[in-house]
Amino acid sequence: MLSENDTGSSLSTASTKENRDGLSNCICVDDFEALATTKLDRNSCGYYNSGATSQQTLLENCTAFKSWRFRPMVLRDVSSVDPSTEILGRKISFPVCIAPTAMNKMASRKGEIDSANAACSLNSGFTLSSWATSSIEDIAENVPSVLRWFQLYVYKDRVLTKELVKRAENCNFKAIVVTVDTPVLGRRYQDVRNKFSLPENLVLKNFEQQNKLGFSDGVRSSGDSGLAEYVASLIDPSLNWDDIEWLKSMTTLPIIVKGILTAEMAAEAVNHQVDGILVSNHGARQLDGVLPTINALPEIVKAVRGRCEVYLDGGIRNGGDIAKAIALGAKAVFIGRPVLWGLACGGEFGVKKVLEILRDEFILTMKLLGVTSVRELQSTPNLVVHETNILSKL
Ligand SMILES: Cc1cc2nc3c(=O)[nH]c(=O)nc-3n(C[C@H](O)[C@H](O)[C@H](O)COP(=O)(O)O)c2cc1C
Repeated sequence: MLSENDTGSSLSTASTKENRDGLSNCICVDDFEALATTKLDRNSCGYYNSGATSQQTLLENCTAFKSWRFRPMVLRDVSSVDPSTEILGRKISFPVCIAPTAMNKMASRKGEIDSANAACSLNSGFTLSSWATSSIEDIAENVPSVLRWFQLYVYKDRVLTKELVKRAENCNFKAIVVTVDTPVLGRRYQDVRNKFSLPENLVLKNFEQQNKLGFSDGVRSSGDSGLAEYVASLIDPSLNWDDIEWLKSMTTLPIIVKGILTAEMAAEAVNHQVDGILVSNHGARQLDGVLPTINALPEIVKAVRGRCEVYLDGGIRNGGDIAKAIALGAKAVFIGRPVLWGLACGGEFGVKKVLEILRDEFILTMKLLGVTSVRELQSTPNLVVHETNILSKL
């Protein structure tokens, strides 16, 4: 929850003078992180910002981008560039979408509705978490024209899991993003220390109708992280590749697997005819010590050989990071924490500003690289190389 002013969400109420003043000093995503950290209380800040165990991968998700170097082209007439692209056949105005993050209403009053509205206004895409504090129906009713995907956690209760998919279909969500890296919750020390709980006034809205004990209001600590306890009791740790077949058999929506980090698992996903792979380590919140996603991307792109779309999330903090991921084969990237920081700083307005900053920095990077379209960025060889490859040739 916010410790200071409720940032609200409509553009008019979002910004008390104080908030706007803070926001106007935010010229990059790192500024949003710093400001958000002053606005969020300990429970929410710890939950949003932290990673698993030693947080090695949390740091590396960001720093690894720095070892990938640009090899720019010059004298290329970049007076006009087009940053738009397509994901699963739908046009987006630049290759950045919103990753699923749980419990957005701890950051702003309207939470996920603010995030979806911001995505909508910039013609980007929005992914709703299973553990959102706004429901599938809330998004469809309040932000009907946003391009929306639904992130699915597979519950031990398969009837309930199937109902979630059907509700997403009925509400015109365009894909199911099944998270495959969470058979149990990663150990996040800050949440354990804080005995992380969802504040009493909030619930996991997708389960409110279910009226089953603990599904919507079960993120309450009895001594450990409340979310770890929730996952241990309700999420299915037996999830396996047969369940991907089960999902495919019950829905006509495209299936994207989120949480792939190796060529072997990517090949398996392609064998199961998924429509997309989201290269993700869950924002470094699950298995600490895995590769930063940007370093995992090349082997996955190579293994997939264009047979499904490949996306990336984790550590995207500026336009250069976006360009590097696209040049290395991602069709689009997704952002998690930057959206939460935008929400905490200024609700919908804050998220919109985060997305605008990333879009503008991406366009700037395209120009400085000498490319005029996303396709050119994707198809020009060796625009981005790992620095060890440059040094070894000297
Ligand atoms: C606070 C928080 C909550 C998250 N909740 C979910 C979730 O409900 N489902 C999911 O698949 N991933 C979840 N993620 C992971 C994100 O979808 C994404 O993989 C990650 O945030 C990307 O890294 P970034 O935060 O560095 O952009 C969450 C991440 C954060 C930071």
